[in-house]
Amino acid sequence: TSPVLDELLARLVADVPDFPQPGVLFKDITPLLADHDGFTQVVDALAAPGRDETGATAVTKVLGMESRGFILGAPVALALGVGFVPVRKAGKLPRETFAVSYALEYGEATLEVHRDAVAPGERVLLVDDVLATGGTLEATRQLVSRCGGVVAGVSVLMELAALGGRAAVSGVEITSLLTV
Ligand code: PRP
Ligand code: MG
Repeated sequence: TSPVLDELLARLVADVPDFPQPGVLFKDITPLLADHDGFTQVVDALAAPGRDETGATAVTKVLGMESRGFILGAPVALALGVGFVPVRKAGKLPRETFAVSYALEYGEATLEVHRDAVAPGERVLLVDDVLATGGTLEATRQLVSRCGGVVAGVSVLMELAALGGRAAVSGVEITSLLTV
C-alpha cells in the first residue's frame, strides 16, 4: 500500500466499540464508501492484484461475495474492464448453481454461484471487505474450483489477523490493504 492510502484508511474506517456485541470493536467502512476520493483509491488498490506487471488486466471476471463484497467487487470489475459475478447466500440465484457450506461460530452458512458464471480455465479475482476466519473466501475458492476456474488473486480491504484466516484459504495469494 501507499502512505496516501494508509492515511485514507486511518481517517475513513471508523472504530465502533461494542458492535454488534459488547467487547467487539467493529470496523465501519461506510465513511470510506461515502468519500469519493477514498472510494476511488480503495477500488484502484483492490484492482491491482488483477493486473500483471505491465498494468494490463490479467483476469476475466471479478467475484464479489454477498453482501459487502458486492459494494467493492462491482467497481473493481469495472476498473479492470471485466465482468462481475455475484457469489450469493443460499437460495438467491435463479438458475443451476454450485453450493459450498462452511462453518460459522454458531451454525453454518452456504454460498452459491451460477454454474456457468465462471468458465473452465477462466482466471478470476475475488474481492471482499474483510478476511476474518477465512470461511467465506475458502468457500468461494471452492466454488471457483467447482466451475473449473482459477483464482488468480484475492483482494480484501481489511484482514483481522488474529483470526488466522489466511491459513484457512489454501493456495491463493491474498492482498489486504489494512491489517488490524
Ligand atoms: C462478513 C464480511 C466477510 C466475512 C468475513 O460477511 O463481509 O464477507 O464476514 O468473515 P470470515 O472470514 O470469517 O468468513 P458476513 O457473512 O457477515 O455478511 P455480509 O457481507 O452480508 O455483511
Ligand atoms: Mg461479507
